[in-house]
Amino acid sequence: MTVSRVPSPRRFLVCEPRHFAVQYAINPWMRPDSPVDIDLAHEQWQALIRAYRAHGHTVDTVEPAPGLPDMVFAANSAVVVGGRVFGSLFHAPERRAESSHYDSWFKTAGFDVHRPESVCEGEGDLVWTGRYMLAGTGFRTTREAHREVQEFFGHPVVSLTLVDPHFYHLDTALFVLDGRPDGNIAYYPEAFSPGSREVLARLYPDAVLATRDDAMTFGLNSVSDGRNVFIAPRAEALAGRLADRGYVPVPVDLSEFQKAGGGIKCCTQEIRS
Ligand code: ARG
Repeated sequence: MTVSRVPSPRRFLVCEPRHFAVQYAINPWMRPDSPVDIDLAHEQWQALIRAYRAHGHTVDTVEPAPGLPDMVFAANSAVVVGGRVFGSLFHAPERRAESSHYDSWFKTAGFDVHRPESVCEGEGDLVWTGRYMLAGTGFRTTREAHREVQEFFGHPVVSLTLVDPHFYHLDTALFVLDGRPDGNIAYYPEAFSPGSREVLARLYPDAVLATRDDAMTFGLNSVSDGRNVFIAPRAEALAGRLADRGYVPVPVDLSEFQKAGGGIKCCTQEIRS
């Protein structure tokens, strides 16, 4: 018998892809010589926002800034838990200026922002499960930042080492299905070091495991509201396994953004009050 999953309304912060482009290469997906279809990117992004709203979620937008082509990837600029905002410090100099734009948005919206001392790329590498902060390192966010995050939130931070450059951010290899203390996750084990794989297997013995194909089609860069899973349409096998567990896949195609190494989750910052 499949369980009936209950969605919970979320508040998301997004950034319109007005200045989106692939102008430099800071991950293996980015090829500055192969152009992005900007009109298609706009349509795809609008479809994501419509899908969120149609499922009852609130969507706020931050004004995009010229010269910051990756600013559309809102997830990287902060992690917010219990109304507390831990900001970002990007690894790549090309992205560093994004942080202050997001910080200003949060300040205007009434939040204090903690600025990290060490490289930290927000929800790209910091995934709140409802119980722990799973924290990726290896390519971007540092272990020093993990310590700073634990000190700031007072929640246990579980450091996980990423080993495959295609999955340079934790949110390309793992996502949270329920966001409750007893909730579950989906992930691609081979993206992690052997020890980190063991940690995940101990914490989440019932996790939904993804294949390399699922991960390479950005299937793990998904957003779940506890029932509906906004997921890349090409991740069919993973969507099928989620459906077997009672989740409802909502396919949203962000193929143009994959040219920059990003997908649904990358475009979405969750504001947890
Ligand atoms: N081009 C961006 C970068 O490499 C993509 C960021 C994707 N965001 C994410 N949350 N994984 O930084």
